[in-house]
Amino acid sequence: MHHFTYREDELYCEDVPLKELAREVGTPCYVYSHATLRQHFAVFDSAFSNVPHLTCFSVKANSNVAVLNLFGSLGGGVDIVSGGELFRARQAGIPPERIVYSGVGKTPAEIDYALKEGILMFNIESDQELEVLNRRAGELGCKARIALRVNPDVDPNTHPYISTGMKKNKFGIAIDTALQAYGRAKGMENVEILGVDCHIGSQLTEITPFIDALKRLRLLIDRLGEMGIAIRYLDLGGGLGIIYDQESPPHPHEYAQAILQEMKGLSCTLIFEPGRVIVGNAGVLLGKVLYTKKGPSKSFVITDAAMNDLVRPSLYGSYHLIQPVERRERETQIVDVVGPICESGDFLAKDRSIPMVQPGEYLAVMSAGAYGFSMSSNYNSRPRAAEVLVHGDRYSVIRRRETWQDLVALENIPDFLKG
Ligand code: LLP
Repeated sequence: MHHFTYREDELYCEDVPLKELAREVGTPCYVYSHATLRQHFAVFDSAFSNVPHLTCFSVKANSNVAVLNLFGSLGGGVDIVSGGELFRARQAGIPPERIVYSGVGKTPAEIDYALKEGILMFNIESDQELEVLNRRAGELGCKARIALRVNPDVDPNTHPYISTGMKKNKFGIAIDTALQAYGRAKGMENVEILGVDCHIGSQLTEITPFIDALKRLRLLIDRLGEMGIAIRYLDLGGGLGIIYDQESPPHPHEYAQAILQEMKGLSCTLIFEPGRVIVGNAGVLLGKVLYTKKGPSKSFVITDAAMNDLVRPSLYGSYHLIQPVERRERETQIVDVVGPICESGDFLAKDRSIPMVQPGEYLAVMSAGAYGFSMSSNYNSRPRAAEVLVHGDRYSVIRRRETWQDLVALENIPDFLKG
């Protein structure tokens, strides 16, 4: 369910016509629906309302401070993976006691920052990281609250680049060795064991892998109990998939029911780290058709939005529905929708049947709210797109379009190059 709908053949976000918005703000631009963001967060969060839990939105999916601020105001926390994400979260007003920190390569400087802020919990991904954290906490005279991110070795049946909970992945501590690692953590002076964590992958469209992982974690929690380690938080990560095309992922309520069923008898506070399921279908990327071109074997629609704005199609071969902002009766054509970047990998859609479009008209790349802007770059020295938040019949630019000046603002010609 989202709030991007056609009214009399014009695509709206809530009560704002996207054509007008595109004219005023320019393209390419990301547009998010406040009502959709709010609703998706509420649906997910309320699915667990009967048990103690914390919904920690995964900042990497959409890192705009306005978006984070909205989730914070709805009672949410965040899952972060860098000092930069911690900074954003704090700027957005997320209280430290609602922040969990995952990631295989936390630097000492990032660890210090998070310790000083007093975040809820570090999700530790290796023995060496645990050692460093213990040392840094000792140095700063505080205790580090931790969970171990356990790699349960289950196959999430998703794209290999975004599957994270299998033996061959770099993430977490192998479940077979987790008990020993917890034993070591227990002996550390500046570490307090709070929980167990796992995250097995992204865009999962079945419940079974989540439940398989949970079963393995339950066994681990029982064994930890026998060792005198009481687990207060169980962090099940994110990963719930969405509909881009023909997928049929479980509804958050089905996901919740299956988890709660499996949780019976366990008295932990649950933590979730959803990203895509909350923001994915709450955003679109608007682009303008620059040219259309018929090659000898293919036809192309060339837009001002490119792989630097939305890299998912190029990187994972992901499908995003592309719709003209103005809908009218017309023939369809099979085209590649491409951007201006100098790479053949620069495409938003390949061999796609879309209505015959004309230069100057706007296209909406749907389901672009997750891993869209947050993965965008300046490749080919293209200023990054604007981001806009729509609320009813109003909207606000929540990140201005970058300028050419912004592109060189951090650069410097050294004296030895100057004649
Ligand atoms: N927690 C951790 C530790 C994660 O690594 C991730 C995503 C999440 C939570 C949120 O997962 P979600 O609920 O969004 O599935 N760029 C890729 C997705 C990469 C996901 C990385 N980790 C894409 O565009 O599909």
